[in-house]
Amino acid sequence: MGTLLRSRHFITTQEFTREEIDLMLDTAYDLKLKFARDEPHPLLPYKTVFMIFYDESTRTRNSIEAGITQLGGHAHFLSPDKMQIHHGETPADTAKVFSRFGHAIAVRHCQFGVGNKYLRALAESSSIPVLNLQDDIYHPMQVLADIMTIQEHFGKNLHGLKVGISWAYAESHLKPLSVPQSQILLFTRYGIDVTLAYPEGFDLMPDVVKQAQKNAELMGGKLTITHNMDDAFIDADVVIPKSWGGFFTIDDPMKAGERKEEIMERVRQHTDWRCDERRMDIARKNSIYMHALPADRGREVVDSVIDGPHSVVFDEAENRLHTAKAVMVLTMGGRP
Ligand code: CP
Repeated sequence: MGTLLRSRHFITTQEFTREEIDLMLDTAYDLKLKFARDEPHPLLPYKTVFMIFYDESTRTRNSIEAGITQLGGHAHFLSPDKMQIHHGETPADTAKVFSRFGHAIAVRHCQFGVGNKYLRALAESSSIPVLNLQDDIYHPMQVLADIMTIQEHFGKNLHGLKVGISWAYAESHLKPLSVPQSQILLFTRYGIDVTLAYPEGFDLMPDVVKQAQKNAELMGGKLTITHNMDDAFIDADVVIPKSWGGFFTIDDPMKAGERKEEIMERVRQHTDWRCDERRMDIARKNSIYMHALPADRGREVVDSVIDGPHSVVFDEAENRLHTAKAVMVLTMGGRP
């Protein structure tokens, strides 16, 4: 197994082999133990991560910021409107400057049709790793924490495990597609039997779905698409009901930013897509309920489920810290 991840960009798990993902997870388990034992682990002393956030964040920002501090380094929190990006400085120039100053550039940019392109442009000109903190297509940090959480409950061999990923009703904002897309891409590589449920028109990106189907064929997993929310719950070991923007409910998804209200009207036609006790009862008895958070309480999920015995959402959130640290250790440090 190759262990050399130093200097690699982390934009999607799809660009890493299964062995490399397993190495990230093993590193995260090790760092979680060290954190639990209060054992110092300064594996990245004096290293700097530049974090550029185009969008709001609680877990991602703080898992990187706390994580790099615990590893002996430091993070700069940067907002594009306070940078020369605001005056049009190009991603290439931004990447070249930060490559002279520090050790990684970490970015959240979720604007549909724009975010991933921006990260790719940075990566092209960066000699230090570009870490994706969520874009419009992928959220690799989240899905690493998700798979770790699932393994903690069901063991490392996930072959044949039944996971239901479902769209759910929310009004707080049009959530990116990147969480469910990253989940179908990675879960199928672990041989998981994935059911993806969403109302007609709330499709994920066709190329991503095609790739996930290929992953399933190669790795012995399964990806079934349905338009009935209950199908994602029946006999499921893991349920992940979460909203995403219905960008494909309009004729031109690239205009999603200008047509938010129109998309929201489509969202409001599906208020019954909610995770409640009845739905949890059709999942397996020892099933777990997951959500990347923040959740729209009362809409995506009722309080008695998210605060109930099946819920592992805070374990999942905690694992964001350990997996983020693992990615930083391996890409910013690791074996020279
Ligand atoms: N799950 C997640 O990415 O959370 P934040 O938006 O708070 O970073």
